[in-house]
Amino acid sequence: MRLKDCHNFHDFRKLAKKRLPGPIFHYIDGGADDESTYRRNTLAFEQCDLVPDVLAGVSSIDLSVTVLGQKLDMPVYCSPTALQRLFHHQGERAVAAAAQKYGTLFGVSSLGTVSIEEIAQQVDTPQAYQFYFHKDRELNKVMLARAKSAGVPVMMLTVDSITGGNRERDLRTGFSIPFHLNFNGLVQFALKPAWAMNYFMHEKFSLPQLDSHVDMSAGVSSIGDYFTNMLDPSMNWDDVAQMVEQWDGQFCLKGVMSRQDARRAVEIGCTGIVVSNHGGRQLDGSRSSFDQLSEIVDEVGDEIDVLFDSGIQRGTHVLKALSIGAKAVGIGRMYLFALAAAGQVGVERALELMNKELERDMKLMGKTTIEQLSRNNLRFRQ
Ligand SMILES: Cc1cc2nc3c(=O)[nH]c(=O)nc-3n(C[C@H](O)[C@H](O)[C@H](O)COP(=O)(O)O)c2cc1C
Repeated sequence: MRLKDCHNFHDFRKLAKKRLPGPIFHYIDGGADDESTYRRNTLAFEQCDLVPDVLAGVSSIDLSVTVLGQKLDMPVYCSPTALQRLFHHQGERAVAAAAQKYGTLFGVSSLGTVSIEEIAQQVDTPQAYQFYFHKDRELNKVMLARAKSAGVPVMMLTVDSITGGNRERDLRTGFSIPFHLNFNGLVQFALKPAWAMNYFMHEKFSLPQLDSHVDMSAGVSSIGDYFTNMLDPSMNWDDVAQMVEQWDGQFCLKGVMSRQDARRAVEIGCTGIVVSNHGGRQLDGSRSSFDQLSEIVDEVGDEIDVLFDSGIQRGTHVLKALSIGAKAVGIGRMYLFALAAAGQVGVERALELMNKELERDMKLMGKTTIEQLSRNNLRFRQ
């Protein structure tokens, strides 16, 4: 199987599985506990159906949207994800270049493997910096200032990861950073020598968003420890209100799932929220983000930008979320599997397929602009 044989999410996933050592594939593919939220995220789209209009004159389609003050050529962006150079040596550089090619936004994680400064210089497509809140308030201030001076336009604070989710697949393989693989995990690496060659022939693995602030070799020795020792579980609305004030720009909370939290986000001055359950990787048993979207849009959709992620695999999933009222939609695993499969050309193919699906589906729906999508296009099954 090769990249040209990939026509959808499942094909990218299959190719990624072929290329990656098992522990890394399962880190991307897995969710928390029994993975029930992870499964429901995509299944939730099946509970409603699109109702197309015909004879609408659809020779040209405009997929552009403006969200968080940024003009995007398509309503789908690459959600921030950790450790990308582990999946393919091009890592964040590949994702940034592909996002630029399709004129969309991408997020760089606090646990990214290329620095926000380098990425900001590489591309001029909008970048969001995904932030975790540390116990050390000075560190938070310094990191925010650093992102500001790099020219990052959007701050995205993740609020659903106050503690790490229970990823049992990782426990079974021994996946952690740095690697502490169990015997089974080591065998899985030995089975993928091409990945290992590639990984070890390129620049040494690092976490440049944190390296200059935190000595990862001493006090903090693993990502697990980072979550336990460095992040602040006492983070509350007052803390975030201060951050919003300090940032003084587009500020978005990622991982809001309730109507009342969406309201509070407006009250503290956020300009956006992402309705997201972290792709089912945090609280298993939580509702699918799609099922929760309409009540949040009803609450704050006229006041701030409501974005959406978790479970998107198809253009029609995107159209359903936009019809409910999301302003833009993030993908995670879809572009990560494509990255693992083939680097930059892989991510480009994922975005190209998404773009083509959206254009075709808009035509079939009888819509020429994203604003024309509304709840009139949807019917929920009883
Ligand atoms: C391997 C992996 C790593 C991720 N790392 C982060 C991260 O560092 N910060 C964050 O806010 N979200 C992270 N996420 C969550 C994504 O940003 C996004 O919310 C999620 O993947 C969307 O669900 P989907 O994969 O079903 O599209 C990660 C997701 C995956 C799959």
